[in-house]
Amino acid sequence: MDYYRMISKRLSHSNWIFWIAFFIHLRYCHGDLSYSIPEEMKRGAVIGNLAKDLGLDARTLSVRKARIDSEGNRKHLCEIHLQTGDLVIAERIDREQLCGSRASCSIKYELVLENPLELHRITVQLQDINDNSPRFPEDEINFEIGESAVKGARFPLDEAHDSDIGRNGIQGYSLETNNYFILAVHSNSDGGKYSELVLDKELDREQQREVTLLLTASDGGAPQRSGTATIHVTVLDANDNLPVFSQPVYQVTLPENSPAGTVAVIVSAIDADEGANGEVTYYFSRISDEAARLFFIDKVSGEIKVIGPIDYEEESNYELRVQAKDGAGLASIAKVVIDITDVNDNAPVILIKSLNDQIPENAVPGTEVGIISVQDKDSDGNKQVRCAIQGNVPFKLNQSIKNYFSLVTTAELDREFLDDYNITITATDEGNPPLTSSKILHLSVSDINDNPPVFEEQSYSAYVTENNKPDSSVCSVTARDPDWRQNGTVFYSLLPSEVNGVPVSSYLSINGDTGVIHAVRPFDYEQFRSFKVQVVARDNGSPPLSSNVTVSVFITDENDNSPQILYPTPEGNSFMTEMVPKAALSGSLVSKVIAVDADSGQNAWLSYQIVKSTDPGLFTIGLHSGEIRAQRDISESDSMKQNLVISVKDNGQPSLSTTCAVYLLISDNLAEVPELKDMSYEESNSKLTSYLIIALVSVSTFFLTFIILIIAVRLCHRRKPRLLFDGAVAIPSAYLPPNYADIDGTGTLRSTYNYDAYMTTGSRTSDFKFVTSYNDNTLPSGTTLKRSPVDNSDCLNFTSLDFIENGSKCSTLIFDSDDLHC
Ligand SMILES: *[C@@H]1O[C@H](CO)[C@@H](O)[C@H](O)[C@H]1NC(C)=O
Ligand SMILES: *[C@@H]1O[C@H](CO)[C@@H](O)[C@H](O)[C@H]1NC(C)=O
Ligand SMILES: *[C@@H]1O[C@H](CO)[C@@H](O)[C@H](O)[C@H]1NC(C)=O
Repeated sequence: MDYYRMISKRLSHSNWIFWIAFFIHLRYCHGDLSYSIPEEMKRGAVIGNLAKDLGLDARTLSVRKARIDSEGNRKHLCEIHLQTGDLVIAERIDREQLCGSRASCSIKYELVLENPLELHRITVQLQDINDNSPRFPEDEINFEIGESAVKGARFPLDEAHDSDIGRNGIQGYSLETNNYFILAVHSNSDGGKYSELVLDKELDREQQREVTLLLTASDGGAPQRSGTATIHVTVLDANDNLPVFSQPVYQVTLPENSPAGTVAVIVSAIDADEGANGEVTYYFSRISDEAARLFFIDKVSGEIKVIGPIDYEEESNYELRVQAKDGAGLASIAKVVIDITDVNDNAPVILIKSLNDQIPENAVPGTEVGIISVQDKDSDGNKQVRCAIQGNVPFKLNQSIKNYFSLVTTAELDREFLDDYNITITATDEGNPPLTSSKILHLSVSDINDNPPVFEEQSYSAYVTENNKPDSSVCSVTARDPDWRQNGTVFYSLLPSEVNGVPVSSYLSINGDTGVIHAVRPFDYEQFRSFKVQVVARDNGSPPLSSNVTVSVFITDENDNSPQILYPTPEGNSFMTEMVPKAALSGSLVSKVIAVDADSGQNAWLSYQIVKSTDPGLFTIGLHSGEIRAQRDISESDSMKQNLVISVKDNGQPSLSTTCAVYLLISDNLAEVPELKDMSYEESNSKLTSYLIIALVSVSTFFLTFIILIIAVRLCHRRKPRLLFDGAVAIPSAYLPPNYADIDGTGTLRSTYNYDAYMTTGSRTSDFKFVTSYNDNTLPSGTTLKRSPVDNSDCLNFTSLDFIENGSKCSTLIFDSDDLHC
């Protein structure tokens, strides 16, 4: 009954009618048995007792060779237990193996009994049990879904399979909770279930590039079984991203003059997309022509490189737009600001704003000469400029306004010292390293008439021989004036003055241009020997400057005067007779010829000679003294009257001479004088006059001799009065031409010694005068008349020409009875 109960339990409602009919048949036909068992029962498990169910005696079974035959060649899954008549499980029975997915599954056997042959059909219905889990064909389900897929998009999933049937088959699917997908489950027309993946939220590859989900299929068995598969969704890229620059603005600095190839900045943009969509290339999107010549952008690397000369002074700032573009043409833009930094690459420039290139030499220190401006194109410190003047020049720079300098003088200028200046101005900026430039200014100093002409010599001396030709050149003066052009052009002139009361212009003239002085007329040494004239040199400036110089003209002597006989008087006649004492001894002085020569020096050096005499052996004459002396003692036999012709000759070239006659009377007694008339010359007309003259001369001679004797006696009373012997002919040596007398110890003649002598006979007979003219320089100053200071005991030395009082010129020497004074 358990069996029925079990059967009834296991029968589906739909099969109920069938099962009733079956049981009726089983009863009334040869017994067909049917059992229903779950699959997968253990071996040996009893399905049912055939003997009992068929109403057979179990003990006969083995006798009747009961056996079970299966239809076809099926394996024996069940077998009969002959002792008990039980049908037991012989092997594992898998419904799914036997029937697959068929809904009803049964195994049919036939129970064969022999003796009598009996055949019973046995049907074993196999009931499904949930012994299989749902299974997906693949453990992993791969999808590639573009991120552009819209919400609601469906992606069918593989169906899971469950070998079990009915409730034990697939009952549903479930999906792991996630952000993007939901699951839609559908039933097939064949009752199966399948599912679809539905996009619930757009995918973003950039956010999540893959999604992994677990899909579970579950059956309806108890206990429930399930199977899973992994859904692997790869999110495919869509070009949905713009390239994005790392910075919106790139601000960089770049020193000017950066060489080509220098990388100024590297821009970079990242595109989140993949592949070509993420490949970024760079371009300039907006760039000035100027900047385009200077910068280049590497398409791939984004390096912005210098390709041209960067000059801060031209442009200090560049603003570029750079575009980054991906493969599909999506682009974005960034700004690149390149600030150029200054480099000290510009030397200062010196500009001359004004220049007074002619500076008068009298410009006061501080005079502004020019204005310069200095510019430097650089900036900041590189633009700061210092200016200086090179070298030691009397100029300096004063900064007036910013970058403007005025050039001023610092000292007096002198054109005659330096007439042009090259002023080197250097300008140095304060860059590192500093740059320098320089400029040369050329300045000239213009002339001012500030120098008078200057004579080359302090004074000039000219020597002119007398009797010169008129218009002969005397000398030449030169004055120099360093000034310029007319300020330095010199003209000469004579300063008006008088020489001996005559205007100097009648003696000399000067060539105004050359300074050569000419004589206007012949000079006469005997008239004047020297004179001075002032020459003025004047320049042609305005006002003119002048200076003067003294020209001393010395006239030199020429032998143009023949000696002049002073004694005996040349115009004399036979009355000029000397008395010679009869007792005169050999060597005694008889007379003296006195002659002068107006010339000077050698031209006035006289020599005396007897050219003719009555008795040639009796008298001699001193060659230079003119003293006539007896050569031997006078004897009675000598003629009383002796005539001598004496030639006086000077030493000039050629020499000039004069002759004179001396008459000597050898007598002690004037009573013999009447004989003198025999001695007179035949040519003498007036004998009376001759006598008178002879008498006068004799008296004068005697008187003179007498006076000299007395003085000599008075002054030299202790000495032997030598003059007594020579009394009649004693002549003061002052009479002698000074040139001759002044032969000094060295034996030379003073050429400058000038002498004029003449004798007058005073109206009074008691005294007579020598009038002597001396030139200034002939006598040493300070010499005084030498005279005995005590008792006149010393002789007055007449041979010395010291007739001087306190160095002044003694123009007149007065010789009276007891004194000698000027
Ligand atoms: C100045 O320069 C000029 C020309 O270069 C030259 O002839 C002159 O001698 C220079 N002057 C000075 C004072 O150096
Ligand atoms: C000469 O000097 C004067 C000022 O004394 C000046 O004015 C003039 O220009 C100068 N002449 C020349 C040729 O330099
Ligand atoms: C000549 O020069 C001197 C000094 O050099 C001066 O004192 C004198 O006045 C000048 N004479 C004339 C006439 O110019």
